Amino acid sequence: MHTTQIALITGASRGLGLEVARLYARRGIRLIVTAREVAPLQRAADEFSLLTDVVAIAGDVADPEHARRLVAAGFERFGRIDVLINNASELGPSPMPPLEQLPLQTFEDVLRVNVVAPLSLIQLVLPGMRARGSGLIVNITSDAGVQAYPTWGGYGASKAALEHLSRVLAAELEGSGVRVFVVDPGDMDTAMHRAAEPGVDLSHLPGPASVAPAFVQLLDEDAAFGRFEAQRLVAVSA
Ligand SMILES: NC(=O)c1ccc[n+]([C@@H]2O[C@H](COP(=O)([O-])OP(=O)(O)OC[C@H]3O[C@@H](n4cnc5c(N)ncnc54)[C@H](OP(=O)(O)O)[C@@H]3O)[C@@H](O)[C@H]2O)c1
Repeated sequence: MHTTQIALITGASRGLGLEVARLYARRGIRLIVTAREVAPLQRAADEFSLLTDVVAIAGDVADPEHARRLVAAGFERFGRIDVLINNASELGPSPMPPLEQLPLQTFEDVLRVNVVAPLSLIQLVLPGMRARGSGLIVNITSDAGVQAYPTWGGYGASKAALEHLSRVLAAELEGSGVRVFVVDPGDMDTAMHRAAEPGVDLSHLPGPASVAPAFVQLLDEDAAFGRFEAQRLVAVSA
């Protein structure tokens, strides 16, 4: 399989995105990374830059202007983007309210970050991928997009939408050489999960570093489409 060299990873300042970017940096994959808060993103970028070339721009993926700036900066620096990892995600309020009480504006915000923003980045990177006849798009989902967990409805509906969008995209891209994967990382001890379950001790859960190797495996996965459970992928290869 061809070597992928330039990856755009959203939400790379902490949690899963940080660990995946770390592993990619170790492989020499050049990175374009983003998150909203400047200082943690800069800290992460400084670390990656010891191993690889990095473009880091802070901003909200749901801001179309930020998405355009990010991709344009990546093209300007590296000339192309081979891998897009749509990892940044919005949970909504903590604690999470039942759907009956979910503020509609909040629901729209969740959909904007978790569904619209990934598609906006996909639309920006696809022309180059199509032209080269290769590319990898990874959209991060959750079991909450499949299972009906009370109070997880806004977030879960957004992940279900992202998954179906990915399936349709893969059908539209058949034969193009662009691969589309949906990855459920499984339960991890991260800031997002702690916000989802405030007051619950999650220290028994695996950290994101334990599932990040699955994202290295996916670089060489030949299928045109797949829904993967990262923890299972890692377990199989261990
Ligand atoms: N943790 C779990 O148990 C679990 C389970 C299943 C699926 N997932 C999925 O795994 C992915 C990573 O989650 P995580 O647990 O690693 O989350 P996390 O630790 O909270 O990290 C989220 C990252 O995304 C960034 N981010 C959030 N909203 C953003 C926005 N609007 N624009 C740009 N960057 C944004 C955050 O930085 P800023 O706050 O500075 O923007 C941070 O870098 C998500 O897609 C999540 O839905 C997680």
